[in-house]
Order: sequence, then C-alpha cells, then structure tokens
Amino acid sequence: MASSKKKVNAAPKSERKKVVLAYSGGLDTSVAIRWLQENHDLDVVAVSIDVGQPGDMEKNIDRAKSIGSVAAYAIDAREAFAEDYVWPSLKANALYQGIYPLSTAIARPLIAKLLVDVAKKEGADFIAHGCTAKGNDQVRFDVSIAALAPNIKILAPMREWVMTREEEIDYAKKNGIPIPVKKACPYSTDENLWGRSCECGVIEDASKEPPEDSHEWTVSPLKAPDKPTYVEIGFERGVPVSVDGRKLPPVELIVRMNKLAGENGVGRIDHVEDRLVGIKSRETYECPGAVTLIKAHQSLEGLVLTRDVLSFKKLVEQRFSELAYDGLWFSPLMDALSAFVESTQKYVTGVVRVKLYKGSAEVVGRESPYSLYNEGLATYAKGDEFDHTSAEGFIYVWGLPLRTVASAHKDKMKVVDEKAEKAKSSPAKKRK
Ligand code: ARG
Repeated sequence: MASSKKKVNAAPKSERKKVVLAYSGGLDTSVAIRWLQENHDLDVVAVSIDVGQPGDMEKNIDRAKSIGSVAAYAIDAREAFAEDYVWPSLKANALYQGIYPLSTAIARPLIAKLLVDVAKKEGADFIAHGCTAKGNDQVRFDVSIAALAPNIKILAPMREWVMTREEEIDYAKKNGIPIPVKKACPYSTDENLWGRSCECGVIEDASKEPPEDSHEWTVSPLKAPDKPTYVEIGFERGVPVSVDGRKLPPVELIVRMNKLAGENGVGRIDHVEDRLVGIKSRETYECPGAVTLIKAHQSLEGLVLTRDVLSFKKLVEQRFSELAYDGLWFSPLMDALSAFVESTQKYVTGVVRVKLYKGSAEVVGRESPYSLYNEGLATYAKGDEFDHTSAEGFIYVWGLPLRTVASAHKDKMKVVDEKAEKAKSSPAKKRK
C-alpha cells in the first residue's frame, strides 16, 4: 500500500460536532463550509486531496480557513492513487461499457477512504461532499464511506440546498466568501492522473461533435505531428515500470504517457454512458495515458496468457469495471475479482512498442521472457515445427460430438419435419 503524504492543520478542541468536508477550493464547496456551519451547526474540517488534478492544495488550506473551517488538510494522494487504484484497474484493463477508463470513478473510493481517515482522527461524526443528486459520484462516496465507516453520517449540501449558481454567488458575496477566480468554463470537468472528464453545456447534445474547446489534454488529431511517435513501455507483473527504457515511478510514468499520447491526439473518448442512477448521459473524456497503457497491457497479455485465461479474464474485467463504476470498490466481490486478476499478472512482464500517430495508439511490437508465442510452431516458412500429421486426428476428435449429434438426429428430424409440413397444409379446426 502506498502512503499518502499529509499537510495537517488539525482542529482545536471545541464543543460542536464536526463534519469532514471534501474541499475542492471551488465555489460549491466554499459555500458549503459556511452552509454546514449555519444549517447543521457543525465545525467544518476541510480536506483537499490531490489525485493529480490542477490546483494548489496549499492555497485551498488557506482559503478554507479564511472561510471559517476549524481545520484544513492537504493530502497528496497521487502515489496511493496510482499504485492502489490505477494499477489494479489497468491490470483488469478496466473500461466501463468497453470505452471509459473509469478515471473519475476509481478516484472516489480513495478520496472516501482518506476522508474517513481524517474523520476518525478528528473524531468527526459527519462527512460531507459536494456532489449533486444526478451523478454517480454521490453514490460512490456514500457507499464507500458506508463500507469503511458505517456509523459516520453523510451530508451532501448540494443535494439538500436549492440554490442556483447565481444564488450561490449571492450567498458567497453576502457571507464574505471569496469567489474563486477561475476562467469561465462552459463544461463541468473532473481531472486526475488517469484522465479528464467533461460534461454539460453543448456536449449534452449527443448528436453534435464535441467542440474543440472541450479538450484540454489532447491536441486535435488534425494538428498532431505528421510523423509518428514510437514509445516502448516496459511492464513487470502487469505494471508499467519504464518508458523508452527509462525506469519511472508510477506518477511520473502516467504523467509522461499522458503527455506523449496527448501530443499525438490519442485518448479522446465520446461516450453516451449509462449512469448508475438510470440516466443516459453524453460525456467526453481525455485519457491519453490510460488508453495507451491499456492497449499495451492487453497486447502483452495476449502474448503471455493462455486462450482460456484471456477469455475468462474478459468476463472478470467487465464485472470489475461495473463494480468500479457503481461505487462498489470496497465490496467482497471486488476483492475476489481483484485476487483473480492479480493471479493472472505473474507473467505479464515484457516490453510493448506502441506507435502514436494522429489520434491512434497502435501496438506494433511486443516481447516477453514468458512469451507463449513460438515462431517454430507459428511459421508458414522454413523451420516449421508443427506436426502436420496431427491435424487430421485432432479435427476428427474435435468434430466428433457434432458428427454424433448429426447422425443421431437425422432420422428423427425427418419425422418432425414431415409432421410440421402436414400441419401447415391442413388448416386448424375452428373452435365454436
Ligand atoms: N461520468 C463519469 C463518471 O461517472 C465522470 C463524471 C465526472 N464529473 C464531471 N463533473 N465531469 O465516472
């Protein structure tokens, strides 16, 4: 388990009960600090968690305290996120509905866990987050917190209050809450090491191409370099450990892959997805590193795993992805599926060569000390080691059950067919 580094500013003793608030530094959670004090009579402990999104967590501490939180924590959780959430998901080639690398989804259980840690340390009875009532994230937070600390009560101010954005700004002004200066963004976005999610605004029209300004991590494939970039990714036991021969720690490796693939326009995803709350929603993602690493990992698995394991693992991967999406990271089934996935990764070691070119990431070579690819068996050229005389016997045995069925049914089927023909030609008697 990777540890998360914390900058702590613990709360002084007080009579009021405490709530630990997941604090992003944005308008919603800034307003929530004051709102929780006023409407729930609670002392607020603000927690900002860095999972690789932009923003300055230290500044968040100052802002939260200036708004009135009794304590504020900045937690650098990037390493823990990469090692304990991203890598297990990569080993499972996790893609929700076969397309979305679950970047937002898999950060939620980690954030929930860190909030619970702080709540326990601070003796808080409540945890609060800024999710609305229509998304998946509220489910992921609430369910993960419940799984880890069933006695902690959850507050979701934005599910409770009925303020519009304008009213929020009014409330902030009246209460002297500094309004975060952010360049106006017509979308709702979420970012971390594994990707960037984008929804709302014109993206909600599922029939229209997402506008160029909705992308930030990837260049348009039209503007990507005219020459391909080749990258060699080294894996050990299912985990990427090097890029172009250079060993890199997890966070740096992911950042590097996001850059290389993003510059080549790789990783744009346009998805009409099924939210857990029953809504179909159009969202776009930019996951350049994730898309490239998953492709490379899948390809290496194709080289070292048997056909049986590969096909069974596909079923596990799909279920794993659904559990991650549905907020069930901390569930017994997830533990069991993860154990299966982990057991398949023992020989997923080797190097994969990927060609990044104008929006596509194409695996163009792979090798492993545990490769099951045997050129002597595969080749059609000289040096063929495959025993051709064995093919006929194999096919005879392989087809034997079908031959048996065919001859056993032959005569019986004739009778059935004749009866059906007769029934067709004599019209059914009418009932009175
Ligand atoms: N739909 C994605 C998910 O449920 C991402 C949601 C991210 N939120 C956002 N404001 N873009 O995992």
